[in-house]
Amino acid sequence: MSSAVVAVWLATVITILSKSHAERNVYPSAGVLFVHVLEREYFKGEFPLYPKSGDATNDPITFNTNLMGYPDRPGWLRYIQRTPNSDGVLYGSPTSEHVGKATIIEITAYNRRTFETARNNLVINVMATEEFPLPYQAEFYIKNMNVEEMLASEVLGDFLGAVKNVWQPERLNAINITSALDRGGRVPLPINNLKEGVYVMVGADVPFSSCLREVESPHNQLRCSQEMEPVISCDKKFRAQFHIDWCKISLVDINKVIPVYVKRPELGPGVLPEFGDYNPPSESLKSRDYFTDFIVTLAVPSAVALALLSMLGYTMCCRREGVKKRNMQTSAIQLVHHSSIQKSTKEMRNMSKNREISWPLSTLPVFNPVSGEVVPPIHPDTYETTSMPLMQTQTNLQNQITIPQQQSGKWYS
Ligand SMILES: *[C@@H]1O[C@H](CO)[C@@H](O)[C@H](O)[C@H]1NC(C)=O
Repeated sequence: MSSAVVAVWLATVITILSKSHAERNVYPSAGVLFVHVLEREYFKGEFPLYPKSGDATNDPITFNTNLMGYPDRPGWLRYIQRTPNSDGVLYGSPTSEHVGKATIIEITAYNRRTFETARNNLVINVMATEEFPLPYQAEFYIKNMNVEEMLASEVLGDFLGAVKNVWQPERLNAINITSALDRGGRVPLPINNLKEGVYVMVGADVPFSSCLREVESPHNQLRCSQEMEPVISCDKKFRAQFHIDWCKISLVDINKVIPVYVKRPELGPGVLPEFGDYNPPSESLKSRDYFTDFIVTLAVPSAVALALLSMLGYTMCCRREGVKKRNMQTSAIQLVHHSSIQKSTKEMRNMSKNREISWPLSTLPVFNPVSGEVVPPIHPDTYETTSMPLMQTQTNLQNQITIPQQQSGKWYS
């Protein structure tokens, strides 16, 4: 019983592990159109199996695709998903440069209703092909298709079948598909079910058939220049499904393509002459020696300061002459005179200490601040600093003020 439980648990763990490392390998050929459809149905099964409410069958799902470790896809690989309810398509034409190294594309699917995500890796191993490149390449402009419609294998198969029918080659490959929007086309008005248009390049191993060359006749060239549809005998082989703009067909025989050498234009006077390649400084920094900086900024000024200090110290301590010299320069009689003055001053000061304290009149309040009357000290005998108020109190003032008021009344009457 318990072993069965363990087995179920193990199976679940293995399923989860294998799902988290889901990887798909594809082997496209260089020089041949590569198309990989990101199927909504497949990724629906990849989302975690949490209990979900609502109808999961129509969840909007979008995809994000990038080269592993990078934010975007490699340049040759393009991606389109028209709406979250349609499949996404990766497509592009790998060239012989991409042969031999595996390109890992990270595909992240987002469920826009439940916000769950699922991660999946697509490993693209580009294989070399011996028939690459096919020498005769024709590019058709199909007016009534969008790029993702054209990428559907059955539509592309139908188109290649029609081309094979009018060209009769042994080998025929789709080389490249480009939306007309990437070639300067405009988004059509949303009327009459108009489509963006798509360029399809095919390659074959035999020269172009007479039917494909019909557009080069003078008569058809004239019609094209007048914006009329050229008369092409094999157009009816396509007409049922594909509306081809024959004026825009381009036929390239890559053996006859003359390589174009671009000459460097003459430089005008404003362009500086070349100085050769830019040499960036090395990344490892050399450790810098700060010893000379230290000597210059600290040691030299402090040495100067020290010299000045010692000179000053010497002058102050050892070259000092002082009182002794001054006394020697002064005449004896002057010294005697001076010391006798000092002696008598000292004596007088000592005598004044014994004297009874009496304050000089100038320190006493003499005038009444309001009336200006001369007021004699109130109690001159017991006058003391401690009992002397700094300012006369209100009551004091009142007594003194009454008299001049009466007097003033007399003056005015
Ligand atoms: C395919 O078409 C795209 C867009 O026009 C172009 O950038 C790319 O070089 C083409 N690839 C090849 C192999 O011709």
